[in-house]
Amino acid sequence: MTSVRSNGQPKRVFIRTYGCQMNVYDSDRMADALRPLGYALATAPEQADLVVLNTCHIREHASEKVYSELGRMRDLKVERRAAGADLTIAVAGCVAQAEGEEIARRQPAVDIVVGPQAYHRLPQLLAEAERRVALRKAGKRLPGAGVLDTDFPAESKFDHLPAPQGVRAGSAFLSIQEGCDKFCTFCVVPYTRGAEYSRPVAKVLAEARQLVAAGAIEITLLGQNVNAYHGEAEDGSIWSLGRLIRALAEIEAVARIRYTTSHPRDMDDELIAAHRDVPQLMPYLHLPVQSGSDRILEAMNRRHDRALFLGIVDRLRAARPDLALSSDFIVGFPGESDADFDETMRLVEQVGFAAAFSFKYSRRPGTPGAALDGQVPEAVKSARLAALQSLLGQQARTFNACKIGRIVPVLFAEPGRKAGQLIGKTPWLQSVHGEGNARLIGRIVDVHLTAAHANSLAGEIVTGSYEVAA
Ligand code: 5AD
Ligand code: SF4
Repeated sequence: MTSVRSNGQPKRVFIRTYGCQMNVYDSDRMADALRPLGYALATAPEQADLVVLNTCHIREHASEKVYSELGRMRDLKVERRAAGADLTIAVAGCVAQAEGEEIARRQPAVDIVVGPQAYHRLPQLLAEAERRVALRKAGKRLPGAGVLDTDFPAESKFDHLPAPQGVRAGSAFLSIQEGCDKFCTFCVVPYTRGAEYSRPVAKVLAEARQLVAAGAIEITLLGQNVNAYHGEAEDGSIWSLGRLIRALAEIEAVARIRYTTSHPRDMDDELIAAHRDVPQLMPYLHLPVQSGSDRILEAMNRRHDRALFLGIVDRLRAARPDLALSSDFIVGFPGESDADFDETMRLVEQVGFAAAFSFKYSRRPGTPGAALDGQVPEAVKSARLAALQSLLGQQARTFNACKIGRIVPVLFAEPGRKAGQLIGKTPWLQSVHGEGNARLIGRIVDVHLTAAHANSLAGEIVTGSYEVAA
């Protein structure tokens, strides 16, 4: 495969990531897989020879964005070809998995469609795409629009992708689990990401050590159902997430551990105990509840009711009193009445969330929810979402405000918009802005919190709480 342009410059890939943190992780791994082929990273499609759209299918709006972006990529390809060059267009991620053939039909300019389990085959897919281009130039055509790889291969992509390279600002994602067997009736994930799979313990720990060697001090464990983790250890025993977190905390230099996304059903005793015993495990938990109504939770096939969720919250708070809770909510699931929605509002009032994501139900073809009677009118969904977001916003502001005046450790991640400003995260995952030297990026520094805004806090770095090498 040619990895240089005709002018001798290395080829470049631009990867646009939509959706969740699993996709962010996968995009990095695709970049890692393409590097040995000579592909450097481009910061815009205009500079790239290969564009990868790593897509999200979770809600209709997310999928539709992909098709409009593909239209722009087609225009860019046409311009390139007019200038005697080319642009390879690849679609990866969950839209690729769910709608591979439709993508090829709706946008014939697409060269490669690759599902989330097949990223290790990217080099091979690119070679095939290049062969197609060569044949086209020679006036021959192969049947079909492009190269499609949306199987769920028997081998794990993790065993074939290169080890992660590079850590940004001290913080790294580590994917430990993929797929989902829960089949909530609104959700496409079991269809796009496939069956639940846990990476073996030794592989996870080895990757964690590599990340630490590359500068990570914070590791966020990722999985669609991360707390369903049940990885095999070398002695044949099965480790839960709680046990894995304890082992990770033993790696020197790991100062912060997080995990996302969890399911209430899988919050077992070992994991709750880890929140009590492991100081590196940050006091923040994203635990989607989706609804406060037992009737709707049942229709969603959530496998938990309101009481189970509230019981877990109590146990978690007993284990770690300063735990910040975040959640996901869906309003307007088919059949949701005013009374059901009211139950959601009452659950929110009862729990008190530090942060949250809330969505209008989006009908996803192929999921059981799409076929249910009682689809809720858009205007009703909008009104419920506004009410819910107002309450959640109020709770987030209250949570932020209660930290004012405290000195807390902040991991600085990036420069802020204003000169001399840095942005970082508290243990409770709040964003903090403060004036500081860019050399503090990637480090944990004590910050005196001085003001709370809607989505962030302002603070002053406590001088002397860090050392900067001269
Ligand atoms: N409609 C609206 N929101 C959805 N989510 C998943 N599927 C849908 C859907 N069809 C939300 C859930 C989930 C989050 C990642 O996205 O709240 O927890
Ligand atoms: Fe989707 Fe439910 Fe699985 Fe979460 S637990 S990924 S919402 S099916």
